[in-house]
Amino acid sequence: MKYDIGQLTIDEKLKLLSGRTCWQTYDAEGKLPEVFLSDGPNGLRMIDKKTISAKTQETIKATAMPNISFIANTWNVDMAYLDAQTIADDCIENDADVLLGPGVNIKRTPLCGRNFEYFSEDPLLAGTLAKAYIEGLQDKGIGASLKHFCANNREYDRLFISSEVDERTLREIYMPAFEIAIQAQPWTIMCSYNPVNGVYASENAWLLKDILRDEFCFNGVIVSDWEAVHQSARAAKAGLDLEMPNRAKAYEELKEAYESGWLTIEEIDTHVQRILELIEKSKAAKKEITFTKEQRHENAVKIAREGIVLLKNEDNLLPLKKGNILVGGAGYEKPPFGGGGSAYVETDYPVRSLDKELAERLGENANVFTSPRTYFLHLEFLFNANKLLELASEADTVVYCVGTNQDIERESIDRTHIRLNATQENFLLKLLEVNQNVVVVVETGSAIDMSKWIDRVKSVVYLSYAGEGGQEALADVLTGKICPSGKLNETFPLSLDDAPVKNYEGNLFVDRYPEGVFVGYRYYDTFNKNVLFPFGHGISYAQFEYSDLRIQKITETDYDVSFDVKNVSSIAAKEVPQIYVRDVFASVSRPQKELRAFDKIALAPGETKRVSVKLNARAFAFYSVPLKKWYVENGMFEILVGSSSRDIRLRQKIQIEQPKEEQTTFPS
Ligand code: BGC
Repeated sequence: MKYDIGQLTIDEKLKLLSGRTCWQTYDAEGKLPEVFLSDGPNGLRMIDKKTISAKTQETIKATAMPNISFIANTWNVDMAYLDAQTIADDCIENDADVLLGPGVNIKRTPLCGRNFEYFSEDPLLAGTLAKAYIEGLQDKGIGASLKHFCANNREYDRLFISSEVDERTLREIYMPAFEIAIQAQPWTIMCSYNPVNGVYASENAWLLKDILRDEFCFNGVIVSDWEAVHQSARAAKAGLDLEMPNRAKAYEELKEAYESGWLTIEEIDTHVQRILELIEKSKAAKKEITFTKEQRHENAVKIAREGIVLLKNEDNLLPLKKGNILVGGAGYEKPPFGGGGSAYVETDYPVRSLDKELAERLGENANVFTSPRTYFLHLEFLFNANKLLELASEADTVVYCVGTNQDIERESIDRTHIRLNATQENFLLKLLEVNQNVVVVVETGSAIDMSKWIDRVKSVVYLSYAGEGGQEALADVLTGKICPSGKLNETFPLSLDDAPVKNYEGNLFVDRYPEGVFVGYRYYDTFNKNVLFPFGHGISYAQFEYSDLRIQKITETDYDVSFDVKNVSSIAAKEVPQIYVRDVFASVSRPQKELRAFDKIALAPGETKRVSVKLNARAFAFYSVPLKKWYVENGMFEILVGSSSRDIRLRQKIQIEQPKEEQTTFPS
């Protein structure tokens, strides 16, 4: 290795275990190059290096990509890969070595302020897309930082509240996304702020050593979340390699522990070695920009085209073809590109207004017009609202954009409710009194309650936070230039009251997870709850037929599953077949079904494609705490193939019969 541990003094080694600045690693008095770490994950958010020592630091401008939650709505690994490849170019251009993302924390409650930064309520979807994202970054020589390990599922008092979660739930819900993504060997993993079962993640040897290193075989650097370390020597002893950012007392604490013999030189050298490997990887990497700035924007549009979710479309109101079309609402001129906090990306790309994009695509067939601004929370609002209603009553169709923004959905706070704000909601109701053909475009980073208006609206399009290419992609979908193919990565409940987690279950020190493994659709489906839109839902302008499900047994716990999907419409479209497994009878309480595979396929009009997936033991197993392993219990399982978690098109039962000696004695 180029950067030899032997050249470092003990003091230099200790200093290397924490950052030199907020974003840079220590340079050992010029002996080592620095590694620059920067946010992440919805694009590059970075201090302009030229201003790093200045009083006022400036943020660089980068491509504002669709947010991670949006990426998850594409259900497309190629889009996650392309997203990261695009961001990597901004990193290379600005000389950032490691991007602080992606985040794979599970959306346990729709209230979490950072849901827009996370993939899904389902660990398989989150882990699979995160893996592709990490590959996309690292194939271009930019390191990833998979975050935040572990059980950081809301923002309220995130630095201190302990997530109190039973082991089976951690293993089945909160850890598998990390486990899957680690297959791509991210250069770094970031531990979370919160304690897990009473021990800070940064000091939790069970999480950092037993799970990450020994079980998940992670071989990169474990970095702390920013200021997540409370005592540096304890963190180093527990397995944390790099504390970020720089903290005045870190060196002293490490030195004292070393001198007292509590922290051994072997322990210190292990961390140093990993940091040296990170430096080596980052400096040796071949970093080549492959997309121009304009191409990066085009990638943002391309990805945005795949993640827009058509939630409802009565009377084929969409796609828009002709007539008088009024465009209005909060974000039609400038939608929220992303949520707030460390993931907020500043772009200098000129914002495109939706009315102009629509007019351009519809040409002479339509007359697209707008009204004076009706931004919610805007003083002009009351004055302009009547004008908008007047125009709406004369329009054939109204496209109305509602949503939240980076002040409402952001790091360090949670939402307190999941409705639109009262001004928007009330105005929408008024709009519906004067026009029957309203298309509502929802621009939020996470699920919202639509109960007040959903029955009166014909079409709803979930844009989410689609980044700087969102308006172009939205216009393509609204006009049918592109057939919508996004699917929800999370359940939209009827209201917050219906959600499995709507409040804290604990006190000032702990946040209990009493719902256990019943998170998201695992809860709604098991307890037969009605939902507004189920996990995996998203309609298309095309129709698909599923047929010919065949399940071929390879071993008792390995199966090849295949089926046909046919596009029975006259337009080119994409579909996301989802494969779930149901354990018909189990000795522990299990979710009614769980996602075990998915695909995204493009189909020409009339085309049929055969989809094949493999299911292995993990697809049937639950984690048995007493047996300390993933355990497949003999008995009947059902394979369910569908277009959403609640639109199951094909099903077939299988019987698993492993040797009796490998089974517990629970009667089956
Ligand atoms: C966030 C991380 C982020 C870091 C650096 C923390 O507050 O939790 O996700 O990467 O800051 O900005």
